[in-house]
Amino acid sequence: MDNKIRAAITGVGGYVPDYILTNQELEKMVDTNDEWITSRTGIKERRILKGEGQGMSVMAEQAVNELLAKTKTDPLDIELVICATVTPDMIFPASANIISDKTGMKNAWGFDVEAACSGFLYSLNIASQFIASGTYKKIVVIGADKMSAIIDYTNRETCIIFGDGAGAVLLEPDTSGNGLQDAILHSDGSGRQFLYQKAGGSAYPPTEETVAKHEHYVIQEGKTVFKFAVTNMAEVSYQIMERNNLKADDIAYLVPHQANKRIIDATAQRMSLPPEKVMMNIHKYGNTTNGTIPLLLHEWESKLKKGDNLIISAFGGGFTWGAIYLKWAY
Ligand code: UT7
Repeated sequence: MDNKIRAAITGVGGYVPDYILTNQELEKMVDTNDEWITSRTGIKERRILKGEGQGMSVMAEQAVNELLAKTKTDPLDIELVICATVTPDMIFPASANIISDKTGMKNAWGFDVEAACSGFLYSLNIASQFIASGTYKKIVVIGADKMSAIIDYTNRETCIIFGDGAGAVLLEPDTSGNGLQDAILHSDGSGRQFLYQKAGGSAYPPTEETVAKHEHYVIQEGKTVFKFAVTNMAEVSYQIMERNNLKADDIAYLVPHQANKRIIDATAQRMSLPPEKVMMNIHKYGNTTNGTIPLLLHEWESKLKKGDNLIISAFGGGFTWGAIYLKWAY
């Protein structure tokens, strides 16, 4: 055993809003049906945050408060906060700053990471560098999105997929061999034409025309994104196994981004993993973008054991994708 400092997850918090948007309700809103949605995506329902002025940080605040309480952590001891999101409360200031203020993490500095569905994966890796280098001892990494704010509920190709939710983890140093072992991360900006939100940034600031043309909503060429996602997420998950000499038997769980059950199944198959080793809650929450991975860890927390080998993987807009190999620390 080496004495290397690794970043270990030492707690998880999670939050989803109460309102449940079912496939049956969507059938009344667009030309779709439960059978199509279930067979093509695996999704039955998603959660939606309702209420005027209720932004992503409302959910992130709840997740962080649960995390701090559960781990008995004084918010003033948190040194860095990284928030992965594509739906910040506002374009600026960063949501990490807003959440830190709301939860009393007053001594921390922080920033947002925008890497679409791979944002939480990217953020875990960024945070891990600060721990492994000995710079910090307590970092909160948040993955949260209020996708309902940027979804066009007249577009059946996107509105059936996404939902709202938030999760947060605490990262601390571990010298016993557990924690983050390896990461493979990628991006390819030429994929930007297949999954994006056109207006609202500096290229196309909001105008009456951008609003009328529904350009402030997610636009996705589903079939193309599916092809890239299914290949790249499976390959990178397999690659990180190989690189670390892991066989299917060595892996306790795959923690896959929840975009489509068919993508998750293909990834598990490439890794030769049986369904019971695959975390999945897409049927309940849909694709919460940056919320998917921490929400899975939150739901499975009680089943995880110290030393369990987890492979966390994601694919998303950008394109961005990657995998992390982590040994669970508690
Ligand atoms: O998390 C970020 C990364 N995103 C992803 O990984 C998403 C990747 N893409 C997907 O998950 C899938 O492509 C979708 C779920 C978005 C779509 O599934 P698909 O099996 O690729 O369907 P498709 O786009 O090829 O559409 C098949 C048919 C089309 O009709 P025609 O042309 O065959 O007559 C669509 O118009 O299904 C139609 N369709 C629908 N029918 C009922 C599209 N959306 C719907 C709908 N309900 N909601």
